[in-house]
Amino acid sequence: MTDRFQFTVNATDGKARTGVINTPRGDIRTPAFMPVGTAATVKAMLPESVRETGADILLGNTYHLMLRPGAERVARLGGLHKFMNWERPILTDSGGFQVMSLASLRKLTEEGVTFSSHIDGSKHILSPETSMEIQRLLGSDIVMCFDECPALPADEKTVADSMRLSMRWAQRSRDAFGDRPGHALFGIMQGGVTRDLREESAEALKSIGFDGYAVGGLAVGEGQEAMFDVLDYAPGFLPQDKPRYLMGVGKPDDIVGAVQRGIDMMDCVLPSRSGRTGQAWTHRGQVNIKNARHADDPRPLDESCTCPACRGYSRAYLHHVFRAGEMISGMLLTWHNLHYYQDLMAGLRGAIAEGQLDQFVSNFHARRAEGDI
Ligand code: GUN
Ligand code: ZN
Repeated sequence: MTDRFQFTVNATDGKARTGVINTPRGDIRTPAFMPVGTAATVKAMLPESVRETGADILLGNTYHLMLRPGAERVARLGGLHKFMNWERPILTDSGGFQVMSLASLRKLTEEGVTFSSHIDGSKHILSPETSMEIQRLLGSDIVMCFDECPALPADEKTVADSMRLSMRWAQRSRDAFGDRPGHALFGIMQGGVTRDLREESAEALKSIGFDGYAVGGLAVGEGQEAMFDVLDYAPGFLPQDKPRYLMGVGKPDDIVGAVQRGIDMMDCVLPSRSGRTGQAWTHRGQVNIKNARHADDPRPLDESCTCPACRGYSRAYLHHVFRAGEMISGMLLTWHNLHYYQDLMAGLRGAIAEGQLDQFVSNFHARRAEGDI
């Protein structure tokens, strides 16, 4: 255990890296996938079960927690880790991105953003300063800068103006965060799909100085090809010796492509959310458990998976409980999906460490190409 936040790259293969982030609350093996625990829970999972899937860190959301149950209340109850019974690292997103997708009556100014809660319509303000204060009250280990992210496609002036506002907010976030040993502050690169804007954003962040750097503003409607085009150069604008976090990504093949391009951390609601709608991710691609073809199938979801859903239950059972609307359906499919994602990350880490990433990636695509048969 360390009392400092520190990142070590242990091996590289091409642009891909594997290493470890040490924090006072435990180590984060990279490349890392962070399950999303928006409202102080990874839906349908106990925290100890999330840990059993192999997760080292969870993501929480400033936006949701400030509205319900409130950051001061969480602080009074001992902080988010204690509140949700997860003692390992937590990264919190800063709120601006969620305001833009969830809140109503939004008003954006230089100061920050005012909005109405999607829960009860109450009025709130988020700014770099209030976001830093809320993330401090929650007890977040990795705090994200307060930023703004336009939906793509957007014209270049809109993207440029928004990015420059986010860079001014990044400086204000840095100033408001102060010096908090053991806690990290990450900057967020913006700039859409424009190379010059991405570079300008990276330079602005590097001159402020952060403990890690996120690539934001992707997976917002541009498609995988455009996202990979940006990831072909954007990570290279960031410091080699700090973690690089791709926000809100993605599907398993997005993750593999991002890791090949030098990304160290990712988060996405996909494995947990799709588990609750009957979608499973397996070595052979996506499986929809609702489909009638599973009704008499005695095989597990994924023959090569060791999760509780695959060890103990047939496709026929998973199909039945989904159709019957039983709660165990979401629990088992979420467990399987999170296990699959963490298994993929462990595979990527091992392959990078052994200099076998290309082979691992070919095998990954070949098994998916066979399809679910
Ligand atoms: N989640 C996904 N993309 C983004 C982004 O650009 N900024 C923030 N703060 N969160 C995100
Ligand atoms: Zn499984």
